[in-house]
Amino acid sequence: AHLDFFGRSKGGERALLVQPHPPGRLDPEALTEFTELARSAGADIVDTLTARVDAPNSRFYLGTGKVEQLRELKEAHGADLILVNAALSPVQERNLEKALSARVVDRTGLILDIFASRARTHEGKLQVELAQLKHLSTRLVRGWTHLERQRGGAIGLRGPGETQLELDRRMIANRVKALESRLDKVEVQRAQARRKRERGDLPIVTLVGYTNAGKSTLFNAITGAGVFAADQLFATLDPTLRKLDGLASGPAILADTVGFVRDLPHDLVAAFRSTLSEVKTADLLLHVVDASDPNRNERIDQVNAVLAEIDAGDVPQLLVFNKIDRVPDLQPRRERVDDAGHERVFVSAIEGLGLALLREAIGERFAGTRVCQSIVLGHDQARLRARLFAAGVVASEHADDSGWRIDIDAPRAAIEPLFGLTDGDGARLRGHLNLPQPEPI
Ligand code: GTP
Repeated sequence: AHLDFFGRSKGGERALLVQPHPPGRLDPEALTEFTELARSAGADIVDTLTARVDAPNSRFYLGTGKVEQLRELKEAHGADLILVNAALSPVQERNLEKALSARVVDRTGLILDIFASRARTHEGKLQVELAQLKHLSTRLVRGWTHLERQRGGAIGLRGPGETQLELDRRMIANRVKALESRLDKVEVQRAQARRKRERGDLPIVTLVGYTNAGKSTLFNAITGAGVFAADQLFATLDPTLRKLDGLASGPAILADTVGFVRDLPHDLVAAFRSTLSEVKTADLLLHVVDASDPNRNERIDQVNAVLAEIDAGDVPQLLVFNKIDRVPDLQPRRERVDDAGHERVFVSAIEGLGLALLREAIGERFAGTRVCQSIVLGHDQARLRARLFAAGVVASEHADDSGWRIDIDAPRAAIEPLFGLTDGDGARLRGHLNLPQPEPI
């Protein structure tokens, strides 16, 4: 079995779920969500208990009657893990563990566990480990014999009269320090890459969405494999950044991020500061939604709440309804959602449906910044061709018997003055180019 940092086995654990709620305010949605989180952490849920909590009990969080009921349920089901959908203090967690003789994990611990199993980047892994250690270092009172065994007696490590607990604390503190300095380095590299990208002038599109919405699948589907070659810089530094080609507005950078969940614990917001800074500095967010999720509207609100919390509430968004293959009668399409120009695009990342529409929609958002199109000029338009070259907006051209195919790639600001050319060239160029008006967002 896969063991975690504390040598405890993970996955397939028989878990009891506890959903505390204020009097008269049981939120079924909160329980559904917590159940999903527990499942995605690999827990095998044997039963669920709701618990009315008027004011959290300082010793157990739950009332003593509930603790007793939990203990009976735990015995009846042979459960070895109790998951509590609340932020427990270290003392409450410890007292519950003693009273129940089972491992107790609170909401933050569970989310950390999920993030740990999903972290994809080197940096993400470091961040999760750091957050886990910080979360756990306050909870250091359990049995640590397995660690002692692993260290094989720790000769040379133990100071005179030092207790096991002090030793453990010091080990963790050292690890935290090492992780923090690694992260600082990664962050410096990341900032350098960002500056390079900014110089390269490419717009940044960042995927956000509720966990499991299909961000990574879409990331792979829309960027395709093997696109890195030209962009080793990003690829080697951070596999969550790739070049996005095929937009009418020219290339952009696509960034993947960690999945959001509602009420993201504050520790985590801090731990993921650099991943999340990709979100804040993005030019456009692709907000990925699982179209087959009956709770999709709540999920959208929850993601927006997290975005607001990390100061990314004002970044323009495009809603991407994914997994339409799972919903009967949904076709790939673009759809206006309101008069302010908000739009959603229906796609299936897995089946590759609607990806062209999505590219089109993204391209239009950036149409204000860059023009990247091919036009065909006949021999009678040699003067216009010369003017395009003179303006420095031509990326390449191909000549044939009837004239030239000219690939234009330039900031829109460099093209627009050419529309003012007299003797008909301005109007001709405008006719050749099909420039969408920038969408109000
Ligand atoms: P987090 O890492 O938790 O943030 O998840 P994510 O949003 O990156 O989702 P991911 O791409 O890992 O996909 C989650 C699950 O949905 C996987 O099992 C995918 O295979 C599945 N999935 C993604 N896109 C589609 C789709 O278009 N159709 C269907 N049917 N399943 C999809």
